[in-house]
Amino acid sequence: MKKVLFVDCCIRREESRSKELADHFIAELQKTGEYEIETLCLMDENLSYFSDGFFLQRERLLAEGKMDHPRFRYAHQFAAADKIVIAAPFWDLSFPALLKVYIENLCVDGITFHTDEHGLHGLCKADHMVFLTARGAIYTDSPLEQGSRYLEQMAVFFGIEKYDCVAAEGLDIGVWPVEELMDKAKAQATEVAKTF
Ligand SMILES: Cc1cc2nc3c(=O)[nH]c(=O)nc-3n(C[C@H](O)[C@H](O)[C@H](O)COP(=O)(O)O)c2cc1C
Repeated sequence: MKKVLFVDCCIRREESRSKELADHFIAELQKTGEYEIETLCLMDENLSYFSDGFFLQRERLLAEGKMDHPRFRYAHQFAAADKIVIAAPFWDLSFPALLKVYIENLCVDGITFHTDEHGLHGLCKADHMVFLTARGAIYTDSPLEQGSRYLEQMAVFFGIEKYDCVAAEGLDIGVWPVEELMDKAKAQATEVAKTF
């Protein structure tokens, strides 16, 4: 069984269309019987961004090589997964700050990446990262879109070779039926699941 880490940052929880899309994707994976899904719901975690003592604690632990400290558990969990699935809505041309705070906690030199005189080396085991998102308007191919673009580069940073984004778009424009837009995105997610 391949271990899939599903990072759920769908702030609106069961109301969220990103979550609906992600649930469809996860169900497609489960049908194969090949994956063990571990869900990390970021809204249920007590995640802190770096400031003052929390930042200083990290610097001290890294200097002392104490990589087994509980605060690095997210980085260890992410680094050990065979596949990564992330779901989050499109907010302010990107994704919610909660996901950025999680990523800030993931980036630990020596666990998820390493740098030396030869450059950057991703240390994560996963070979594929999939991002599922719902957008109010249409942003695919627009330079304004900064959420998926950023995550794609983070996958490179972590050493994850393959990246896919599936977006349900135009949901808040009011021109196309939302159900049709969701069905289109779900069909794309089904195709990506086949290549996972
Ligand atoms: C705080 C906030 C910021 C948003 N920013 C954007 C935006 O920049 N562009 C856009 O097209 N839609 C934006 N939207 C609309 C959402 O992308 C859209 O409603 C999407 O379906 C939300 O995903 P969810 O259903 O998973 O919560 C925003 C919504 C919220 C609540």
